[in-house]
Amino acid sequence: MTAFRGSKILTVLAIESSCDETAACVLRLRDSGEAEILASRVASQDEVHRPHGGVVPELASRQHLKILTPLVQETLAASGLAASALEGVVATARPGLLGSLLVGLSFAKAFAWTLNKPFIGVSHLEGHLNAPYLETPGISYPHIGLLVSGGHTALYHCRAFGDDALIGATRDDAAGEAFDKVAKMLKLAYPGGPVIDQLAKSGDPKYHQFPRGQVKGRPLDFSFSGLKTAVRYYLERRGGSLCPPDQLEQLAPTESELHNICAAFQEAVVDSLIEKTLAAAKQFGDKTVLLTGGVACNSRLREKITEVAQDQGLSCIVSSPQYCTDNAAMIAYVGARRLARGESSPWDLNAYPTEIMKGPQDS
Ligand code: KG4
Ligand code: ZN
Repeated sequence: MTAFRGSKILTVLAIESSCDETAACVLRLRDSGEAEILASRVASQDEVHRPHGGVVPELASRQHLKILTPLVQETLAASGLAASALEGVVATARPGLLGSLLVGLSFAKAFAWTLNKPFIGVSHLEGHLNAPYLETPGISYPHIGLLVSGGHTALYHCRAFGDDALIGATRDDAAGEAFDKVAKMLKLAYPGGPVIDQLAKSGDPKYHQFPRGQVKGRPLDFSFSGLKTAVRYYLERRGGSLCPPDQLEQLAPTESELHNICAAFQEAVVDSLIEKTLAAAKQFGDKTVLLTGGVACNSRLREKITEVAQDQGLSCIVSSPQYCTDNAAMIAYVGARRLARGESSPWDLNAYPTEIMKGPQDS
């Protein structure tokens, strides 16, 4: 396989299948670093997983298998390009659900092989961290990146493209996971983040003071399990004394209480995320913070962090919601930039469930 060698424009197809969204994108990268999305499609699996209250890995892989081929065909058709016009194929190789990753990775390799074009496997997390560049080219380095999703909650000191140092992470649940679990306790639909966000709009964030998790001696680390437990205890104690879980139904919150609980819980998550992100900016002397990942769609987080950052003389960049949640455009962008600098992956590149298991020969 030949690696791509510099040209003015590089057009790639990318596939994202690390969790419960099947996504494809055709993107054109200019040598100025600007990206043009020719077509981007995301097929959500929410309907498949909703009855189970969370992602079922085996169902996710099967669903990817079922819809990936028609989705790629649709994306290519929408881009107006023939497959032969592609100069490389990109796929998410890590981290994520192994079965899900393997579907997209194997498809991408086979597609690249038949086109005789280079293939590259990239990190989903690097994709999220670069998503803001899709709409705001030229964001300067260094900056702080807050990646906040269903699987990850972490802070990075981003020093250059491909040089993102992990400086803080969650000790237990990811913020999105906390949203989804609390939504489940409140008997709300999966995924819970967008539902809580919506209900909280007409609730009082000061209704109850839920804890803002701290990790002793690690000011840039997050913890959400205490908050989740506090919500459970709050619900159980609402009757005045501790209510056994099997009698919780009788104490179901009224409509307005439900909105208030959502608002107070959301405020606690948002405050923790903002506090650590601004502390990181201060510690590293950075003037720009980027927000990315599904939880970055949260309306209260977007509003409050923009306000607080402005007060402190920082610029805060948050993508449009469709580039915060899982998508293939961010994967295409990272892959295209790496291909453009002569990188590619070997045909035997494997998928990895975690970010750290990076093989020496991997991209
Ligand atoms: O980035 P993403 O699409 O997938 C992962 O890589 O995890 O993030 C999905 C997560 C889910 O936990 C979902 O509940 C959460 O993002 N989420 C939100 C909102 N929209 C999605 N959380 C809070 N508020 C939202 N508006
Ligand atoms: Zn993600």
